[in-house]
Amino acid sequence: MNAADSERLRSQLHASGLEEVEKKPDVVVVNTCSIRDHAEQKLYDFLGPYAKRKREGDDVTLVVTGCVAQQEGEALIRRVPEVDLVLGPQYINKMNDLLKDVKDGYQLVATDPTLISEDVARPVRDDPYRAWVPVINGCNEHCSYCVVPNTRGVEQSRTIEHIVEEMRGLKESGYKEVTLLGQNIDAYGRDLKPKRSFADLLQVADSVGLDRVRYVTSHPRYFSDRVIDAVRDLPSVCEQFHLPPQAGSDDILRGMRRGYTFDSYMRIVKRIKDRIGDDAGITGDIIVGFPGETEEDFQRTLDLMEAVKYDNLNAFTYSPRPFTDAALAENQVDEDVKADRLQSVQRLAVKHGLERSERYMGRVVEVLVEGRNKKVTSEEECMGKTRQGRQVFFEGKVDELLGKLVMVKIDEARPWSLRGVLDGIRL
Ligand code: 5AD
Ligand code: SF4
Repeated sequence: MNAADSERLRSQLHASGLEEVEKKPDVVVVNTCSIRDHAEQKLYDFLGPYAKRKREGDDVTLVVTGCVAQQEGEALIRRVPEVDLVLGPQYINKMNDLLKDVKDGYQLVATDPTLISEDVARPVRDDPYRAWVPVINGCNEHCSYCVVPNTRGVEQSRTIEHIVEEMRGLKESGYKEVTLLGQNIDAYGRDLKPKRSFADLLQVADSVGLDRVRYVTSHPRYFSDRVIDAVRDLPSVCEQFHLPPQAGSDDILRGMRRGYTFDSYMRIVKRIKDRIGDDAGITGDIIVGFPGETEEDFQRTLDLMEAVKYDNLNAFTYSPRPFTDAALAENQVDEDVKADRLQSVQRLAVKHGLERSERYMGRVVEVLVEGRNKKVTSEEECMGKTRQGRQVFFEGKVDELLGKLVMVKIDEARPWSLRGVLDGIRL
C-alpha cells in the first residue's frame, strides 16, 4: 500500500514541476510505515542528516507522509522541528496545495480524517508491466495489535467504475498484471451505495482482459466462498490466497480480535483445496509473542502451519504500537522468547516452503518475467513468478523477455524459489 502511495505522491510532485534528483534535493519527501516499531525508527535515522543540513543553513523542504506522519502528527514537529509538512495517508492528493503553503512560510500538519477523492493525475509507476491498484483505503477492523485503523482511517472504497477505468488504461499501456490493494480487501464495497462485494469487483476486473489479476489482503473472518469461485472461474485471477492467520491458538485469536478460530480458518483452507485443488498457493502472516502467548498457544501456531503448509510465510515478532489495546496489556512476552519463537516459525516455514516447491518439479509452468535475478549480475538470468506467486529463475535474455509470459520447465526446487529452463514464449 505504501509503495502504491509513493507512486501517487510522485505523480503529484511531477505535476507541480519538481524533478527527481540523486543529490542535493530542495524538497525531500519521506513516505513512512509504522506497522512495527522497526519501520518507524527508520524515519528518524533517515531524517537526521537532512535536519542537520537545514540547521546549518541549507534551504531544504522536509515532508513526512504516511502512517508515522498520521500517528505522530504535531509530536513529529516537536521531535524534529526542521520538518515543514506532516501529511497523513489520506492527504496524498492534497500534497501540492499544501506544499504551496509551505513555500509561503507555513509549517503544517494535515492529519484530520478526510474523504479521499479520486486522483486527477495517474500514479507515476516504477514497473511497466505490473501495477498496484488500491481499491479500498482504511480499515474498520480493530485487531488489538494493529496501528492501521488509527493511521489509515475508516474504510473508503473506490467505485468499481473508477477502478476498472484505471485497469483499462493500464491494459492499454501494455501492463500484464494488476494487484488490487486493500488492508481488508474482503470489506470492499460495503460502504458503497448500492453495496458491492469484492467478488463483484473481481468479475468486472477480469473482464478488462489483463493476463493476471492478484489481490491482497484477505481477512479470514470475511473471506467468502464467492471469492474462491471467482478465482476458479475467472481466467485472469491468479490462484494465490494471501490469508494471514496471525496465530493458531483460539485464545490468542480472541485476544487479537480476529473473529475466527483455528477450525474456522482450516475450513476455509479446505474449501480452497476442494474447489481449486492442492496447487492453489496459500501464503500468510504470523505474529509470535502476542501478549499472554504461552508455550501451548504458540504450539497451536506451529500446528496450524503444519496443517496448512504455507507456500510462503511472513513471520514477525509482536511489536507494541501506540494507541493499540494490546500494547497496554501487562502480560507482554520477553523479547528472548519472541526471538526463539520467530526462529521456530521460520525454520518450519522453510521446510514447508521446500515441500511446496517440490510439487513443481518436472512441470512446465507459466511465468511472467519481472526482471533479472538480483543476486547475480548476469543479464542472462531472468526472474519471474508463477500464477501461484512462486519465484522462478531461468537462463534467458532479460532485455528480450521482460514483461513477457513464458513457459519454464522446472528442474530445481528451493524453499522460496524454483529454477528451470525456458521452454517457450507465450506472448
Ligand atoms: N507487531 C507485529 N506484526 C504486526 N503486523 C501488524 N501489526 C503488527 C504488530 N503490532 C503484521 C501482521 C500483518 C502484517 C502486515 O504485519 O502479521 O498481517
Ligand atoms: Fe490491521 Fe489488517 Fe486487522 Fe485492519 S484487518 S486492523 S489492517 S491487521
